[in-house]
Amino acid sequence: MLKFIFKFAKKYWLSLSLMLIFTVFSAKINLELPQYTSKIITQGVAMKNMEAIYSNGFHMIGLSLLSGVLMLAGIFFASRSAGAMARDIRHETFKKIEDFSMSEFGKFSVASLTTRITNDARQFQQTFTMIMRMGIYAPIIGAGAIINTLAISGSMSWIMAITVFSIIVLTTIIGVFAVPKLKIFQTKLDKLNMQTRQTITGLRVIRAYRKEKVEEEKFGEINTEMLKMNVFFERIFGLISPYMTMVSGLGLVAIAWIGSYFVKSGEISIGDVASLTQYLAQVTFAFVMLSMIFMSIPRMNVAIKRLSEILDEEILIKDKAKTKKAPKTFELAFENVSFAYPDSEEAVLEGINFEVQQGQTIAVIGGTGSGKSTIAKLIPRFYDVSKGKIKLGGVDIRDLKQSELHNLIGYVPQKASLFSGNIRENINYGSSKHLTDEEIIEALKIAQAWDFVQKLPEDLNEKVSQGGKNFSGGQKQRLSIARAIASKAPILIFDDSFSALDYKTDAKLRAELATKTKSQTKFIVAQRVTSIMQADKIIVLDGGKIVGIGTHGELLEDNEIYREIASSQLSDEEIEAQIKDFEKQKTVSKTKKAAKKAVSVSKKIAKKSLKQAVAKKSKKGEK
Ligand SMILES: Nc1ncnc2c1ncn2[C@@H]1O[C@H](COP(=O)(O)OP(=O)(O)O)[C@@H](O)[C@H]1O
Ligand SMILES: [Mg+2]
Repeated sequence: MLKFIFKFAKKYWLSLSLMLIFTVFSAKINLELPQYTSKIITQGVAMKNMEAIYSNGFHMIGLSLLSGVLMLAGIFFASRSAGAMARDIRHETFKKIEDFSMSEFGKFSVASLTTRITNDARQFQQTFTMIMRMGIYAPIIGAGAIINTLAISGSMSWIMAITVFSIIVLTTIIGVFAVPKLKIFQTKLDKLNMQTRQTITGLRVIRAYRKEKVEEEKFGEINTEMLKMNVFFERIFGLISPYMTMVSGLGLVAIAWIGSYFVKSGEISIGDVASLTQYLAQVTFAFVMLSMIFMSIPRMNVAIKRLSEILDEEILIKDKAKTKKAPKTFELAFENVSFAYPDSEEAVLEGINFEVQQGQTIAVIGGTGSGKSTIAKLIPRFYDVSKGKIKLGGVDIRDLKQSELHNLIGYVPQKASLFSGNIRENINYGSSKHLTDEEIIEALKIAQAWDFVQKLPEDLNEKVSQGGKNFSGGQKQRLSIARAIASKAPILIFDDSFSALDYKTDAKLRAELATKTKSQTKFIVAQRVTSIMQADKIIVLDGGKIVGIGTHGELLEDNEIYREIASSQLSDEEIEAQIKDFEKQKTVSKTKKAAKKAVSVSKKIAKKSLKQAVAKKSKKGEK
């Protein structure tokens, strides 16, 4: 806890020290005030001496004002530094979360991360301000008031002792009952946030299945738990104020009553009785504050722990100390890659081997859950492989800086996600540079999105709401494809990004991709055979293993599973025609290959004879 506080407080040492100084001085002045009360009564009121009343009175007013100003200054610096610390904490936590890989996100729920960054940081700020201010002020006031009381009348200090004792009793009781519950409070808040989030984001599904009642009940349950806890806290903390009033009231009566005997006997003056009552009030205040601090510390501790859990979370995917330079060519290779999701024993991918040259297109097809998206997620290192290697331009991607690797990749996720802003901003998002409108429109055109964007009232300036809710699924997909294309990254990954497009748009988009992204390596996950027919290589994935790899024609000819997929989507005639087509091409390429071979063989022979001739010549020369 102290390490955490120190880490964030050290930047604000000046403000914090000023706060300390101001608080100490205002406490010292406050301790002096009762002595003036005493003087005014003893020297002024009792003696009917206006002079003494005025001079002491003015002194008192002056000191009260000074103490007030100092206290305000203390509060100013305390809240300023605590506020700044909370801002830093939120910033650091946010930055850390940005570095989280998928496995870290698996450990914390989004709701919990949100509560931590907002509520826990605020909790820290509030308790820290209170502890800083009162942690210094209250002990000085408490100790000073006790010392001053003893100085006036040792025989009356037992009244104060009883008062303090009864405050401590109450604080202990509250501490025992309430503090453990305070710790549960935050987890309950997490739960409430999660339920709220889940309901709001899934509202349409909930409505469609008419599950509003069920969700309402779930929400109601957690909400009632919160209510119970809140009522409990209100009640138990509500006890403090009336109890304190009663205790200090009784103390005052005791001082007045017993004090009057000592005044009669001449042991103390009337003024002393008045200042004793003030000291009693100060001691009561000090102990109430100390008990508040005593209860705030566990609260602050919980907040700090929850924030530290994020800040101290070890991120699994990190840059190496010595990274390699980004590659210049962009062929992509999987070498014997196996992968299991963190916290899961079972391998989702096993022995994946493939290679694709720069500028080529590789496609993956297979049933749901066969691991297609998982392969796509391994390329930008959302997860690291469990075994084997992924190489980009001959370099293991784990040897690259993550920021550089991400610069090389334009990734279109299965679920398109847009950000609030306008279309221009969303398309520019993928690029580190500022793109011109022409470049943005070009990307939109390739992605077959310009048609509909053009028709929007504000075209590029059209507002995109959070998550892109104001666009249809297919529109969102096309916008997120445009974003990847605009990035001009040498590797493009499309994870099932064409699924919401109609056949015609899909075909147009592929044709554009083929001509406009010639030098880029494309990795396409698809469900439709038609989407990937033209790919240079197609991987057939089944249960996390590659069961076939080749071109559309090759696979149609000799891969059972691929044929099954194809025949479920294409008519028999189409398949027949495509196989015939393929046979034709094969013979063409065979003759081409044979011709090539013949040329290269004759070249080799020519070279050989040339070498021999040269060798003969040089031998002759030697002779
Ligand atoms: N974050 C995850 N944690 C654990 N298992 C996962 C996770 N994501 C996917 N899986 C599992 O991995 C397998 C492959 O999933 P995925 O790659 O999404 O399949 P596909 O994209 O081919 O439909 C599935 O069995 C799925 O349950
Ligand atoms: Mg998938």
